Amino acid sequence: MVSLVVVAVFLLQGPLFQPPQAEAFKILPTDDSLTHQQITEAAFLRKMVEVCRNVATVRGKDFALPINSKLTVTTVQKACSNSYSSSLKLSTFNLAIIQTSLSNAAVDLKVFSTAHHFDDEDFINGRDLITQGVAAVKVSIKNGNYLSARSILGAVCHTLQDFYSHSNWVELGSTAPFNSLIKPELPLNNLASSNTKTCKSCVGEDCSDNILPEVLQQKMLTSGYFHLLIPDKPAGKCSHGSALDRTSSTEPTGGINKDDISSDHGFLHQQAAEMAIKATMELLENIRLATGDQDFLRLMGLSQTSVLAFVIDTTGSLSNYIADAKRVSMSIIDSRRGTSEEPSEYILVQFNDQDFGLLIRTGDADKFKEQINSLSASDSVNPGMCLSGLLLTLTRAPPSSDIFVFTDASAKDTELKSSAEAMIESTKSKVTFLLTNSTSTRSRQNVSLSRSLSQSEIQLYRDLAHVSGGQTIDVTNTTLSQATAVITDLITADLVTVLQAARNPPKAENFSFLLDPTLSNVTVYITGDSPVFTLYSPTGVSQSGSVADGPLGSILTVGNLKRVKLNSANHAGEWKISINSTSSYNLRVTGQSSVDVLFYFVKIVEGGHGDSWGQSFTRPFIGRNATFYVSVTGGDSFTVTDVLLVEASGSDVVSGTIKAVGATDFLVNIDRIPEWAFVVQLKGLLNDSSLVNRFQRQSPTQHKGSRITVMAQSQNITKPGVPLSLNFTVATNTTSGNYTIRARNDQGFSVSFPRFLILETGGSAQGSVTLTAPSNTESGTDVTLTIEAEAPGSTDLNYVTLQLTVSTANAIFSGCYSLSVCLSFFCFIVCHFVCF
Ligand SMILES: *[C@@H]1O[C@H](CO)[C@@H](O)[C@H](O)[C@H]1NC(C)=O
Ligand SMILES: *[C@@H]1O[C@H](CO)[C@@H](O)[C@H](O)[C@H]1NC(C)=O
Ligand SMILES: *[C@@H]1O[C@H](CO)[C@@H](O)[C@H](O)[C@H]1NC(C)=O
Ligand SMILES: *[C@@H]1O[C@H](CO)[C@@H](O)[C@H](O)[C@H]1NC(C)=O
Ligand SMILES: *[C@@H]1O[C@H](CO)[C@@H](O)[C@H](O)[C@H]1NC(C)=O
Ligand SMILES: *[C@@H]1O[C@H](CO)[C@@H](O)[C@H](O)[C@H]1NC(C)=O
Ligand SMILES: *[C@@H]1O[C@H](CO)[C@@H](O)[C@H](O)[C@H]1NC(C)=O
Ligand SMILES: *[C@@H]1O[C@H](CO)[C@@H](O)[C@H](O)[C@H]1NC(C)=O
Ligand SMILES: *[C@@H]1O[C@H](CO)[C@@H](O)[C@H](O)[C@H]1NC(C)=O
Ligand SMILES: *[C@@H]1O[C@H](CO)[C@@H](O)[C@H](O)[C@H]1NC(C)=O
Ligand SMILES: *[C@@H]1O[C@H](CO)[C@@H](O)[C@H](O)[C@H]1NC(C)=O
Ligand SMILES: *[C@@H]1O[C@H](CO)[C@@H](O)[C@H](O)[C@H]1NC(C)=O
Repeated sequence: MVSLVVVAVFLLQGPLFQPPQAEAFKILPTDDSLTHQQITEAAFLRKMVEVCRNVATVRGKDFALPINSKLTVTTVQKACSNSYSSSLKLSTFNLAIIQTSLSNAAVDLKVFSTAHHFDDEDFINGRDLITQGVAAVKVSIKNGNYLSARSILGAVCHTLQDFYSHSNWVELGSTAPFNSLIKPELPLNNLASSNTKTCKSCVGEDCSDNILPEVLQQKMLTSGYFHLLIPDKPAGKCSHGSALDRTSSTEPTGGINKDDISSDHGFLHQQAAEMAIKATMELLENIRLATGDQDFLRLMGLSQTSVLAFVIDTTGSLSNYIADAKRVSMSIIDSRRGTSEEPSEYILVQFNDQDFGLLIRTGDADKFKEQINSLSASDSVNPGMCLSGLLLTLTRAPPSSDIFVFTDASAKDTELKSSAEAMIESTKSKVTFLLTNSTSTRSRQNVSLSRSLSQSEIQLYRDLAHVSGGQTIDVTNTTLSQATAVITDLITADLVTVLQAARNPPKAENFSFLLDPTLSNVTVYITGDSPVFTLYSPTGVSQSGSVADGPLGSILTVGNLKRVKLNSANHAGEWKISINSTSSYNLRVTGQSSVDVLFYFVKIVEGGHGDSWGQSFTRPFIGRNATFYVSVTGGDSFTVTDVLLVEASGSDVVSGTIKAVGATDFLVNIDRIPEWAFVVQLKGLLNDSSLVNRFQRQSPTQHKGSRITVMAQSQNITKPGVPLSLNFTVATNTTSGNYTIRARNDQGFSVSFPRFLILETGGSAQGSVTLTAPSNTESGTDVTLTIEAEAPGSTDLNYVTLQLTVSTANAIFSGCYSLSVCLSFFCFIVCHFVCF
């Protein structure tokens, strides 16, 4: 059996990797045929309408939205918000659908397996993939890991949906989905035996009547055989069909797939796609019943799932620093309590000059505050293991977390800077440093005990904050309340980035940015030691940076950060800010809006019958082409006019060519990935109640290419207590020498790996990582493994991120078939998850 759980793993650019085109419902839209993404989205929307209609009924409210093919993310979100009497999140609902669709698409990138696509009458293994996957989705939800839940769900949906295209379920006249596929306790009856003939040859191109009448009469289930290279199939069996399927030229010729309207059974495509939507809805209902409504809404992205993490330096009893850190943390936690923006989870990591590592994770804000209150500082003036603590937090916290780092000292583990940048990039988490200057607070008794931060030491923190879209804020007890005000802005929901730029070395420059009517609470942040700036509105009104309260906004200064909050008057149009400074500076313009942009690098595999693609979990190669997927959330239709890679600390740009793959989704090709770090900028038109407005957004996170490639093999399920060895290959076409290797995982499982690999110029080297999940790990737990290679002198770094699921799968299945085995306690727990 091939593992289903390696959901979004695939190899990049490897000569070994030649994925065959796995035929399925299409991935990219071509004609009126429904793609996997459209099927998945339709199922999500219709299921939510059902759920919200029930809620409305229970609460005695009207609910008018009908279930039909015209549903959109916006109409469903509006109707559901009304049912729940609270504004459910549009952008994250969109995000959940996209994340699920991305991993659905990735299934076609994997080495071809009959079970993943229900080819070759492989019903038993296909059903096992689905039921094991559903169990894993439920465990991930229980563990609060919604991203991996969606990722596994996407893969499961792919297989489930393929059943209706590749089998003869529709031809048998079925009016409802095949329940047994999601319920392992139900039998798989009436499967055509291996020697039952199921098809006759098509009449020329006409395959409308190629399934044998006795198969139809006896309601026997069969599916098409498929092979790219070999024409052989068992005697009398149906083929999948299509030019790529060699078996379809063997008697009986032709095929039965319903992948699109031009397929051999394309006349049944709409029916198969409709059945696939219904089946996906039943799968979602099965998950909802198991997890309850609150968690289901989180899975759907309609409820808050953000995580707030604190990384606190506990060296420094000489100062009030730790008291300040506690006070600021408390006010951050309290500012979100009881609001719709309350985080779903809190994480605390401490570090000092010797050590780091203790990680506390809880959903209970009161318990978390107790933990913070009990922090005490040790007595030392040495630099702390700040980046180790940050890296641990980035690794263990879910993606897109808000991370606050408190310290008053320099980092002693600066060699981890590139690793931290890479983890920020792959997790899209936002890191904000809260720095207390120890010269004023720490040296009360003895000036020589000061561990004040030098400019270059502070620069390290500024760089990391900037890469993540966060800030560096100086906290002294005189600026504590201002600092807190800035911090609470940073964790507002629906925060979007309109513009960000950095100039190092400094350069006097005028920046322009577009504000659209969907934006509110627009804030301009300027960080630097002595920036002189003037802001110009679209109507020509200006305000100097030295005027705290002016016609355009109010300016708050916290250390070297200036925050300009624009007055809420109508501000749509093109703004300008002119900045001059003698030292380096950063500019960031943010606002609140449901219109946001998601970017993912993807790997496209071109096939004869359409492209398949999936998310890429590694840095793109400098100098080569790359593709990314852009999804605009917060509306039903957008026009995208420009997508640019903008140099993160300069003004170079590389523009991409845009191809729409749906009303809100786009694939963007970049001819050459630049040498420099970049942010992605998007400009377009939004069509709101017949008013067309221009808008712009940027990725908050900075990205980089690399000249190193790191590839890892696709692998099997990890079993609890059993070490899993994974081979990986590091290749470079430039720097030779001693490459540093690092591997880490988000579950804290033990992992061993070679500390270095020697590479020759243009050469490659292989290593092996061993991951061991403790024997008491719950089946279905997923683990994200990152393998990283850094060139000598930290000149370059690349990584690959793999997702694995810990599963006792084989044991589960024998267990579920035999009730007596299930009586053992362990198996009972496992079976309970899988079977019921
Ligand atoms: C701390 O003080 C030093 C010396 O006065 C200064 O150079 C540095 O910028 C200050 N750091 C912060 C975070 O304010
Ligand atoms: C400051 O500390 C140093 C060494 O820690 C010590 O030699 C010195 O006497 C102290 N000075 C004062 C004024 O306490
Ligand atoms: C700053 O902290 C010191 C020591 O706790 C205290 O004496 C001082 O009043 C504080 N200043 C302000 C403005 O709160
Ligand atoms: C920025 O714009 C202002 C006003 O339009 C102009 O006076 C100034 O020269 C410009 N500065 C730069 C660096 O282009
Ligand atoms: C953001 O804007 C909305 C509407 O413009 C306003 O009600 C809200 O108070 C603002 N929030 C903040 C934190 O300023
Ligand atoms: C920027 O500031 C420097 C020093 O204050 C000044 O010499 C220069 O003319 C300014 N540049 C612009 C474009 O205003
Ligand atoms: C990207 O580059 C590869 C070779 O390096 C080429 O085969 C492929 O066609 C290029 N793709 C695009 C979209 O330019
Ligand atoms: C904007 O929407 C209106 C109606 O929803 C439509 O008639 C118009 O063509 C759209 N304009 C653009 C540029 O998409
Ligand atoms: C996965 O495990 C099966 C059975 O243990 C084995 O046949 C197969 O080769 C393995 N696949 C990989 C990629 O290691
Ligand atoms: C990993 O590499 C080693 C040494 O090259 C090889 O013996 C082993 O078979 C590889 N393992 C897998 C699972 O490919
Ligand atoms: C490395 O790869 C890039 C892009 O494919 C190519 O332009 C360059 O010549 C290669 N360098 C070496 C030393 O092979
Ligand atoms: C590579 O570097 C590591 C540590 O940086 C060192 O321990 C190892 O000996 C080096 N290997 C070689 C072959 O130079």
